This record gives sequence, structure tokens and C-alpha cells, in this order.
Amino acid sequence: MTDSAQHPDRNLALELVRVTEAGALASSRLVGRGDKEAADQAAVDAMRHMLTSVAMDGIVVIGEGEKDEAPMLFNGEEIGNGEPPQVDIAVDPLEGTTLTAKGMPSALSVIALSGRGTMFDPGPCVYMEKLAGSEKVADLLDLDRPIGETLALVAERKRIDIGDVMVVVLDRPRHEQGIAAIRAAGARVRLITDGDVSAALLAVSDRSPVDLLWGVGGTPEGVISAAAIKCLGGQLVGRLWPRDDAERQAALDAGYDLDRQLTVDDLIRSDDCFFSATGVTDGDVLQGVRFRGGRATTESLVMRSRSGTVRRVAATHDRGKLRSMAGVRFG
Ligand code: FBP
Repeated sequence: MTDSAQHPDRNLALELVRVTEAGALASSRLVGRGDKEAADQAAVDAMRHMLTSVAMDGIVVIGEGEKDEAPMLFNGEEIGNGEPPQVDIAVDPLEGTTLTAKGMPSALSVIALSGRGTMFDPGPCVYMEKLAGSEKVADLLDLDRPIGETLALVAERKRIDIGDVMVVVLDRPRHEQGIAAIRAAGARVRLITDGDVSAALLAVSDRSPVDLLWGVGGTPEGVISAAAIKCLGGQLVGRLWPRDDAERQAALDAGYDLDRQLTVDDLIRSDDCFFSATGVTDGDVLQGVRFRGGRATTESLVMRSRSGTVRRVAATHDRGKLRSMAGVRFG
């Protein structure tokens, strides 16, 4: 037995849950208020405030914001108090800014950590093709195979009718042909307006009604989903998807292989990553923030890949005390 096997070390995810709770509590005050930038800013401020309490030497590798010019925990920003461990950080203070602004389901506050230099940096590429599914179908995920053929293989592997297969897809014009192909194969489509991290979590679970996530979504969300899947099991294959010739050229100049299918092990090159997500609005994966008088409740998913421990943390927060302690409006 190695020393590390005898002495369990620090599980950073248990500290990160306070960070995503803070992001969720702050942004939940803006649910349904029609202002996605304000909701994002509230989550960023609360998270940044709470992150200073985590003893670590962190660098933001994946920061949300560039695509929408949102307020961000920007790429390259140093986070934490500078003490070891040295870590890469992927953060999405509010995954589903529009969902939050419109009071729609499945918005999350989310963060993932892994050792320094182990997180995939997508460079100039904002989008990525994604195909995700559970452990059972992990080896069948191939972006080069026509989606209809993959669906038939998934149905066969799961011993279900292809008409029972459900694919979650972001509702975007760029997916028109793919959606038609899925339907032509006889499978069903669950269209979502936003939030493909939550959709990836559903796709890798054998207990959810969703079998696959398919389509082009954000690269930050792809890396964050990969961290979650390393903890939960399952697979996501991704391929960088430049928006135009300039982005394609910039990616090629930076040495990216645009044909390569990246697995979760390419996106997070470590067997020890940490993940925390807290629900902002109610969804299939997590309950959102609820307010009852002076109290607020949150639900979070807190995970570590090395141990494979998946915790659901239900918390009750005293809004007044939090506010006086933190000086920030958390709820
Ligand atoms: P935001 O929280 O930044 O609004 O992102 C939500 C989201 O739906 C992601 O879940 C998804 O990966 C991405 O946007 C898709 O991008 P686009 O809306 O540009 O198609």
C-alpha cells in the first residue's frame, strides 16, 4: 500500500462547494429578471470572493465570458492564496445565463479543478462538436460515423428499440441537419435552449431518460463536462469547431489538430480532478436555489475523480448572517 493509500488527502471539492453555492445564491436573486449580464456578474463576484478562501495556487485555464464578452474570471487569472497545490481551474460561474434571465430550468454555477498543466486549453476555439453517453456506450462514440448509425449501435448495445433512444441537442440552426438525421433514424430528440453541461451530466447517467448528448456547444462547457464525466464515468468525445476561416487559421497556427477527436482523458489529463456544481434554477440534475424567509436552500453535486465519490450536498443558508459575514449579497 502506498502512503497516499493510507492517508486520504484533502478533497478540494468539499471546499469548492462553498464557491458554487455562493455563485448560485448570488445569481438566483436575478432569476427571471431579464438581465443575463447582471446575473453572470453577480455569480462572478460571489465566486471570486469565496475563491480567495481556498488554499491553493490556481490559474484559470477555462474562464467563461470571451464569447459573450461577459464579466469573467479571465483566462490566466491567478486564484487562491498561492499555497500548494498548483492547479488549473475551469469555471463557469453561471452556466445558462439566458436560462437564468428567463427563469428557465437547468442553470448551474460550476467549477472544476485539476493539477497544473492538465486541463485542455482550447485556444481560439469557442465551439466544439460533442457526443456524450454513459459507460455502456462509451466505445461507440465516434464523431466521424453518421449519427444515425451510432444511434442504431447504441440501441443494440442498450437492448432497446431505436425509438426509445433519446438524444439531447441544443436548439440551434446549425443542428438542423443533425436533428433531421436523428429523427430519420427513428430516435427521439430533446431540444434544449441552453445548458449543455447539465445535458452532458444527464447523458452519462444510466438512470436518466437521455441516452446521448450530440451537437456543437461551447468549448469551456466541454472541458467542464469532461471533468464531471471523469468523476461520474461515461465518455464525451469532442472536436474543435472553428466558427470561421480566421478562427480556423488561428487554431492551425497555434498547432491545434482540428480533425482530432478528444476524449475526457485528453480534455482533463489527470486522474485526480475535482468538480462542484450548484443548481441555480430547478433542473433534472439539481434543484435550484429556494428562498424561505431569512433562509435559502441549495443543492450541489460535489465529486472527485480519484476516489470516485459523488456527493449531493443539500445546504440551508442564513441569508442575513452570510451577508454580514461576507459583505456580499449571496441571497
Ligand atoms: P452561457 O451560460 O454562457 O449563456 O452559455 C450557455 C450555453 O447554452 C452552453 O451550455 C453551451 O455550451 C453554449 O451556450 C452554446 O453556445 P451558443 O449559445 O452560442 O450556441
